[in-house]
Amino acid sequence: MINSKITAIGHHVPALAVTNNDLAQFIDTSDEWIHSRTGIRQRYIAKTETCHDLAAEAGKKALSIAGIDPMDLDMIIVATFTGDYATPSVSCLVQKELGADRAMCFDVNAACSGFVYALDVADQFIRTGKHQKILVIGSEKLSQVLDWDDRGTCVLFGDGAGAAVLEPTDEQGIIDTINYAIGKDYSCLAAGNMINKTPYYEGSTDHALRMNGQEVFQFACTKVPEVIREMTDKHGLTPEDIDLYVLHQANCRIITKIAKRLKLDVNRFYMNMEKYGNTSAASVPIAMSELAQQGQLEGKKVLIAGFGAGLTYGASLIQF
Ligand code: UT7
Repeated sequence: MINSKITAIGHHVPALAVTNNDLAQFIDTSDEWIHSRTGIRQRYIAKTETCHDLAAEAGKKALSIAGIDPMDLDMIIVATFTGDYATPSVSCLVQKELGADRAMCFDVNAACSGFVYALDVADQFIRTGKHQKILVIGSEKLSQVLDWDDRGTCVLFGDGAGAAVLEPTDEQGIIDTINYAIGKDYSCLAAGNMINKTPYYEGSTDHALRMNGQEVFQFACTKVPEVIREMTDKHGLTPEDIDLYVLHQANCRIITKIAKRLKLDVNRFYMNMEKYGNTSAASVPIAMSELAQQGQLEGKKVLIAGFGAGLTYGASLIQF
């Protein structure tokens, strides 16, 4: 039986780091408020980098670690909701940057669950034997969809990208992925409404990200523990049997609450939102890339989970 395995991970962020104190220069906020409510101290914001620049750089790093020639890639999937164009996809632009001319390319839009969704798709292509080398990237340039006058949202997010290479294995790798969506609750979190310029359309033209933070908070704290328990039950495990949890880095209070609901020590949950803020689809691969650099993944049973706009959520169980 063919499984898929993550053989390399890399990440890339814009050059500019913006601290909470930097934001407090032009928004009515403080480092104390942002850090105590979210765990965030700084985020990276693109000045000249595009979403596909970030994605391509993360992809190059992952390919170099894996020792793979871009021409050998069968597929590039980019998880994003902040691409440079509605079309072409970010993945087509990444293909151009990498010179991965043989690769099939498309984007997945599942917001902050995007990387977990994209990994699920890539995993299926490898399990069927159709593809051998797939690059899965989470890349976001959230700064371009924020309302920089709305202190309730603009302090939370950052730009960045993380990339993983998937290849076949006859050992264990990606054990399983479970993804869900609750479309009826879409209005809790939405962004990028296509601005209308026709003289006829009468709908909303608000392009900025709008979020009911407390509803999203409750959703995450309820549904993420549920899907984690579904995953562990399905595989005859308990949450205790997972060595390391890498969840979407939206808020340290969400992760702490999820740990509590699973009756687990929060130290099992990796956190890096302090440095990057919430980078949506990029947060899980950036965190995994840092862990890989520190040699913290090898031999471990890792559960990754995403949650966000859609509303979408999901989890993947991976043996490294
Ligand atoms: O990645 C997608 C998933 N997204 C999430 O997971 C986000 C989930 N939600 C959250 O993380 C939290 O709800 C937030 C961090 C967004 C907000 O935290 P909160 O504890 O729910 O705060 P709040 O929105 O209830 O606001 C509390 C107070 C308000 O003032 P009043 O009305 O109590 O006087 C806000 O106006 O804090 C005020 N406030 C701020 N003050 C200083 C809101 N934003 C700020 C700010 N600086 N940046």
